[in-house]
Amino acid sequence: MCYAIPGRVKAFEGKYITVDYFGEERRAVNELSGLALGDYVYAQGGFVITKVSAREAELTLETWKDLFFELQAIDEKSVAISPWSGKKYEHVRGFMDRILAGGKITREETRYLLGVTSSGEKEFLFSAANYLRQQHHKNSCCVHGIIEISNTCVEGCHYCGISSFHKALVRYRMSKDEILEAVRSAVEDHGFKALVLQSAEDPGRSVDELVDIITEIKQRFGVLIFISFGEIGLQGLERLYAAGARGLLLRFETSNPGLYAKFHPGSSWDERIAHIKKANELGYLIVTGSLIGLPGQTLDDLARDIELAGELNVEMLSMGPFLPHPATPLAHMPSPSVEDVAQVLAVARFTLDPDVKILVTTGFETLSLEARRIGLMAGANSVMLNVTPVDKRALYNIYPGRAHQDDTIDAQIQGTIKMLEGLGRAPTDLSVGQDDN
Ligand code: 5AD
Repeated sequence: MCYAIPGRVKAFEGKYITVDYFGEERRAVNELSGLALGDYVYAQGGFVITKVSAREAELTLETWKDLFFELQAIDEKSVAISPWSGKKYEHVRGFMDRILAGGKITREETRYLLGVTSSGEKEFLFSAANYLRQQHHKNSCCVHGIIEISNTCVEGCHYCGISSFHKALVRYRMSKDEILEAVRSAVEDHGFKALVLQSAEDPGRSVDELVDIITEIKQRFGVLIFISFGEIGLQGLERLYAAGARGLLLRFETSNPGLYAKFHPGSSWDERIAHIKKANELGYLIVTGSLIGLPGQTLDDLARDIELAGELNVEMLSMGPFLPHPATPLAHMPSPSVEDVAQVLAVARFTLDPDVKILVTTGFETLSLEARRIGLMAGANSVMLNVTPVDKRALYNIYPGRAHQDDTIDAQIQGTIKMLEGLGRAPTDLSVGQDDN
């Protein structure tokens, strides 16, 4: 996340501290030693990631002070629900009221919402999801960076453009030095506080090497690291957590084991789920989800996808459209519509725990230039910027025409900040600490 807001330590309670942000209090897990009351810190995903000097913090807070409240006011205005009433909206309205009262909706109700087709009811669904987002997250929007460290892959996923199907693709594997430099630049030049390191399933890089890289990143930089290296083994997860990784991005791709088997010959759905469960047990923040619009996928599958993400204790949901890649067996299958994707995000906002973050994926942005705004107005509250060195980006060719592929990091940040400010959102993660579980 760039341009994080520093908070001030107000209280200590076991492994947690209470952090104050302009009068709003949040809890975060503290793994730093030597913190004292009154110190300023940056927190991400519920973890304290670094201490900042009072001077730096006060300068940053000074620039944020007025803007913070102005943006909140814009956001509050934008979520005002129209006084829509009448039979047409009664289900959505009823679900929303139940959620606001602390209740949940059932799988059948999730399925109902996914099947809403009338434009009026759908519009109301989007507005209501946006309202639910605002009630629990205020105007905060996570902005993480992602560095794609290798496109060398042994898997044969039927939809994926960097799978072994794509014989003509030039393969790369960033060296340790290249990775450290990309992280340094993202953190020191651009202010990112959370980064995802992503790789294809690349047996050419051992867990030992990954441990070494993460250890050095954690020694040198105050940044929250999410790993996304595919299925690296349960022991690999343990070792990378010990090295300092605190988040896992691993989609289960589909909750339907039959569909999974069809598109991932030779891979086990159970094993993939076991990875996510193990990571959750270890204390990783879980980013997971599925593809929307896979050939053969039903609305029941999608309802189950959302439910499964919840069962896996998702911290940030990553559900995005299937986009056909010409070098894969699914080259000629259609992608879902922009509206269908937005509907899934809105329904996820209704179904999942209120504190779950919902990502507008790069896939969705590739489907439409307007996707960010559409997604963020339909319940989503996170985005990811691509901070991979520009010369590698085109080679991380999971689907064609990836959004922002050639945009410099600065251009992405400026564009994102401008768009967020227009919506009254602040690029801040003021999330609460995880509970022991
Ligand atoms: N369309 C959309 N998403 C894709 N992914 C891979 N190929 C495609 C595609 N053709 C997604 C998968 C994977 C993530 C890294 O990229 O869901 O988990």
